[in-house]
Amino acid sequence: MLRSVVRGVGSYLPAEVVTNADLAEVVDTSDEWIVERSGIRERRRAAPGEFTSDLAVAAARAALENAGLGPDDIDLVVVATATPDHTFPATATEVQAKLGITRGFAYDMQAVCSGFVFALATVDAQLKVGLAKRALVIGAETFSRILDWSDRGTCVLFGDGAGAVVLEAEWSTGTYDDRGLLAAYLRADGRHWDKLYVDGGPSTTQTAGHLRMEGKEVFKHAVHNLCEVIDVLFGQTGLGPADIDWFVPHQANRRIIDATGKKLGIDPAKVVVTVDRHGNTSAASIPLALDHAVRDGRIKKGDLVMLEAMGGGFTWGAVLMRW
Ligand code: UT7
Repeated sequence: MLRSVVRGVGSYLPAEVVTNADLAEVVDTSDEWIVERSGIRERRRAAPGEFTSDLAVAAARAALENAGLGPDDIDLVVVATATPDHTFPATATEVQAKLGITRGFAYDMQAVCSGFVFALATVDAQLKVGLAKRALVIGAETFSRILDWSDRGTCVLFGDGAGAVVLEAEWSTGTYDDRGLLAAYLRADGRHWDKLYVDGGPSTTQTAGHLRMEGKEVFKHAVHNLCEVIDVLFGQTGLGPADIDWFVPHQANRRIIDATGKKLGIDPAKVVVTVDRHGNTSAASIPLALDHAVRDGRIKKGDLVMLEAMGGGFTWGAVLMRW
């Protein structure tokens, strides 16, 4: 069977660092509160004139370099984002053009914080049926542009960034020992759409709007939902927490990450955490964490890696891959 194998990974963070102390000058908050409730110490903010597509391109270039490939080797570009450059066309088409790719196809994936997981699973299916051979799967966000900077309940939590992987279809014997994306499980429950949403859009207000979140409600559902999809993958594959080499969760809140890992029985030493240095970067958070753990030598070829995310919609899902 065909499997989607990661050929390279890369990421990009904008230069401007915004610390908790910086935010305490803008809203009534403190470094202690933010660290205790979320684990976040700092986040990045894109420069004026620096757009989601620019962040995506920088991450994509790093992933291509890591893979030893060039733009001509890519025939599918997918950008998971909730903060596109424009209402349309897809930011992925702008990224495709900036990278100089003229063949294949490109589209955006909109599943908010679950976007990268949804994109991996979708691209995997497309590679398997032969729609493309080699894909750039990118998570890129400029959430600083949709934050209400007077709402301390949300503005301290999110940041800007991008991460990318190059996925390539490769023939495999089809066992769980082979490299590549082994299993994925995706969910959505739209009854909760207004617990985490942006109060604007082309069809409603004709404005971009601002992020609104019932943080406690999101928190309540997160651990339960994330454990549910991971348990499904364990059931499907016969693999378990002890088989996992690295758990790379969506980086939204340290407490959600810790509670999920604990409930699943995953050794804390196997959990990759980067939320402290870039906050919640939505669809970019998993590839940012992946890139970090690959470059510091933790994730190596052949390692079993579990990814999970939950976000607005609600959407949630998990992907199991052998690196
Ligand atoms: O990617 C998926 C998207 N989002 C998430 O995963 C976020 C999920 N939710 C969370 O991470 C947490 O619910 C938060 C970090 C957002 C909040 O933590 P919490 O422990 O649920 O706090 P809370 O909302 O219950 O607020 C506790 C108190 C409140 O004050 P009172 O009513 O107890 O007087 C808030 O007004 O903390 C107050 N508060 C703050 N205080 C200082 C809320 N935001 C802040 C702040 N600084 N930035």
